[in-house]
Amino acid sequence: MAEVIDMSRTISTWRWKKILLAGAAALLIPTTTQAANGANGHRSGKEVVETVCARCHATGLNGAPEIGDEAAWSQRAAQGLTALTKHAIDGIRNMPPHGGSPGVSDFELELAITYMVNHSGGHWARPLDKASVPVERSGEQIVHERCIQCHGTGFDGAPKIGDRAAWIPRLRYGLEPVVRSAIRGHGPMPPRGGMADLTDAEIRGAIIYMVDYGTPAAK
Ligand code: HEC
Ligand code: HEC
Repeated sequence: MAEVIDMSRTISTWRWKKILLAGAAALLIPTTTQAANGANGHRSGKEVVETVCARCHATGLNGAPEIGDEAAWSQRAAQGLTALTKHAIDGIRNMPPHGGSPGVSDFELELAITYMVNHSGGHWARPLDKASVPVERSGEQIVHERCIQCHGTGFDGAPKIGDRAAWIPRLRYGLEPVVRSAIRGHGPMPPRGGMADLTDAEIRGAIIYMVDYGTPAAK
């Protein structure tokens, strides 16, 4: 009984925290529009794609995955943003390093890749500029930014935050297999929860936060 009441109170607290966090983030992180205007010294993903990447990726020249080709991109996207960005920086087969334009920064590559993935059936969140936000995001931050959308309510069968009964059977082989499963995604659970730029450590932190939520820390 008390648990039910606690739960609804907790959820509305989460909502508030989410709003507060979003407010704080808006102050710290430049918005897409500011970024597009060059406020942070980098071009938007759209601009980079149109001026640099489209030359090959608009037409599929030399086997480049074509923008809008969902099958081609979903396969590549499964590697995650970090791996794709590394390939775009170093070049891979007929893909030249930095798309052949050394002036494109690593972060601009991330924005451009996210733009192409999202115009090819993907739903990636905008990556954070690690140079301007160098800190690793906490499990709590990540959960409130993203995972709560499904894990807050149990949407589509997602194990709910703090619902030990739902989490314990999933953890029967330990934390690592569950971390790997969240990285890969399965069924309605998108790879990396849809935040392609999450590091493995950040995902681990988010999972621990969801499993342990509301339980007193072990002494
Ligand atoms: C000169 C042509 C060309 C340009 C310009 C170009 N690409 Fe590519 N790109 C390719 C080709 C060809 C491939 C396929 C390589 C392969 O897997 O064989 C590719 C593949 C990729 C992949 C998938 C890599 C993987 O691991 O599967 C990414 C990501 C990518 N390009 C990003 C970009 C971005 C971002 C830009 C613009 C900044 C860009 N490309 C510009 C030709 C190009
Ligand atoms: C779009 C909805 C959605 C979002 C967003 C989402 N999840 Fe999930 N998640 C699910 C669903 C649904 C399941 C249950 C899938 C199943 O069991 O087949 C699940 C399962 C999981 C599991 C259990 C995996 C297993 O092998 O038992 C973990 C861990 C997990 N999610 C972590 C996360 C993390 C971390 C985030 C945020 C970065 C996140 N999820 C965001 C829907 C989502």
